[in-house]
Amino acid sequence: MVRLTTEGNEVRITAPSPDRWEDFKKLRLESLHRDPKAFLSSYEEEASFGDEVWQNRIKNVIFAVIRDKPVGMLTYIQRNRKKNDHVVDIFAVYVDSKHRGKGLGDRLLKEAIYRIKRNKGVSKIALSVLADQIPAVNLYMKHGFRVVGVLEKELRFRGKFYDELVMERLLK
Ligand SMILES: CC(C)(COP(=O)(O)OP(=O)(O)OC[C@H]1O[C@@H](n2cnc3c(N)ncnc32)[C@H](O)[C@@H]1OP(=O)(O)O)[C@@H](O)C(=O)NCCC(=O)NCCS
Repeated sequence: MVRLTTEGNEVRITAPSPDRWEDFKKLRLESLHRDPKAFLSSYEEEASFGDEVWQNRIKNVIFAVIRDKPVGMLTYIQRNRKKNDHVVDIFAVYVDSKHRGKGLGDRLLKEAIYRIKRNKGVSKIALSVLADQIPAVNLYMKHGFRVVGVLEKELRFRGKFYDELVMERLLK
């Protein structure tokens, strides 16, 4: 767990306990509602998920917490096939708009990379991001990810197409 102070508030970067799944659900649905273009998934799709889906998904989440309230999050999942379980995917990265630009995204990613590296079998972290999500692209580049491909017109949102960048970071 990493601690830092932002405007007098302590921020905790932590893996939440399973019983915080309703907080996770709330923040995830908020992210899909507020930043619909940033994610492949949509609010309508995930709002219909049953409780067990959230109870299962929270196992792979890291929270940024201020005064016991999650305001940022990141999910990472190790692939599970025999030939690709050396790869971990990062997705659903989000910081509440009120708390952006204060280093929370940085700390979430740093903590995720630290946790992922502790697993000795893992040699690559992968993610994908919309090409025009500039803050997110910059965040990933700052943490050593490089663009390895462009998926053209990968996402269609409100009648417009968007390209997606495939980004990777190889671990030593
Ligand atoms: C991307 C996101 C998580 C960044 O969170 P954040 O807490 O604001 O980021 P930080 O303050 O820790 O900034 C870390 C780095 O991100 C980049 N960054 C953050 N905000 C930026 C902005 N407005 N413009 C350009 N780069 C930016 C910079 O590289 C920054 O490092 P620097 O301060 O040394 O320049 C946040 O903007 C967000 O939730 N966006 C909407 C959802 C989204 O796009 N998620 C990614 C889906 S793949």
